[in-house]
Amino acid sequence: MTQTIAVIRGDGIGPEIMDATLLVLDRMGCGFQYEFVEAGLGAYNNCGELLPSATLDAIRKHRVALKSPLTTPVGEGFSSINVELRKRFDLYANVRPAITFPNTKSRYTGVDLITVRENTEGAYIGEGQQLSADGEVATLTQKVTRRGSERIVRYAFDMARKLGRKKVTVVHKANILKSTSGLFLHTARKVAADYADIECQEMIVDNCCMQLVMRPEQFDVLVTTNLFGDIISDLCAGLVGGLGLAPGANIGTEAAIFEAVHGSAPDIAGQGIANPCALLLGAAQMLGHFGMEQDARRLRRAIVSTMEARDRVTPDLGGTGTTETFAEAIAERVNEQ
Ligand code: NAI
Ligand code: MG
Repeated sequence: MTQTIAVIRGDGIGPEIMDATLLVLDRMGCGFQYEFVEAGLGAYNNCGELLPSATLDAIRKHRVALKSPLTTPVGEGFSSINVELRKRFDLYANVRPAITFPNTKSRYTGVDLITVRENTEGAYIGEGQQLSADGEVATLTQKVTRRGSERIVRYAFDMARKLGRKKVTVVHKANILKSTSGLFLHTARKVAADYADIECQEMIVDNCCMQLVMRPEQFDVLVTTNLFGDIISDLCAGLVGGLGLAPGANIGTEAAIFEAVHGSAPDIAGQGIANPCALLLGAAQMLGHFGMEQDARRLRRAIVSTMEARDRVTPDLGGTGTTETFAEAIAERVNEQ
């Protein structure tokens, strides 16, 4: 059966990088069908809703979405669409690879790591936020569950095994946050015992940040709670040359959504100079999700060799290419190997 993907072309540079990505996927001969649905500012202007029910229905039906960045209108009453999607589909695993690419401005070589961030619990979701009547004291509930911890750690170990990776680093602050981070760490230890073939390392989050900056090549897979994961995964994007090359997957039991980590870049929208690589790498994650590992590798290799040759790359990578010519250069390579 042909796989259909819900495609959200998004706002700003979204449509440009989505067209580029679909061009490459089609040239690979993956044989996907697409159902185009709307979300974000474009959807709001067209139908008065940021996240129309037709979009939710399509994601529910096809279980997989490829999504360009969305602009959330600034102002009262608009909550983040991305957070809403995570909640609706219980997208508990946020998976963000950070890999060294050739000819970027990065100071590092040999980075090849994946951050797995718990996406539904912890301080990040802002439960119980309160400011006292006199405005002097602010509080917040931080809830971590055994179930939530177990499923994210298991996801990280299963993924590591599937990808032939050797080590999972559990990032925590259990020495200070004894209840929340402590539960996460103890649950992680139990899960790790089921994976004798994969090394389990424990690291306190502040030390982890320093180690990432000093010697990022020592890391393989990192798994952590929501707020730590938010910060660490951006740090890791910085290690490999910034958000233009950073994809992310949001994986749940009911659906999975693949995207670029960057936003809709209104400053360069419509100019045809956006780098399509982050979304293309998100598409590579999607191929992996479908079990099409070989195709995922083929796509990543084509991106690497295009960047190596500096062939038609976009201005952010020091080239004079356009979104379209860069995609064309990658598409020419996908079937070469
Ligand atoms: P941004 O990521 O859109 O842009 C930051 C800087 O990076 C800009 O100078 C931009 O030109 C550049 N940039 C981003 N992607 C690029 C690409 N593919 N190629 C070349 N240059 C690129 O972040 P910003 O400006 O803070 O946010 C703009 C809008 O995006 C906001 O409305 C925000 O809410 C939304 N946003 C959406 C996200 C999503 O849907 N996943 C994530 C982050 C922001
Ligand atoms: Mg973030």
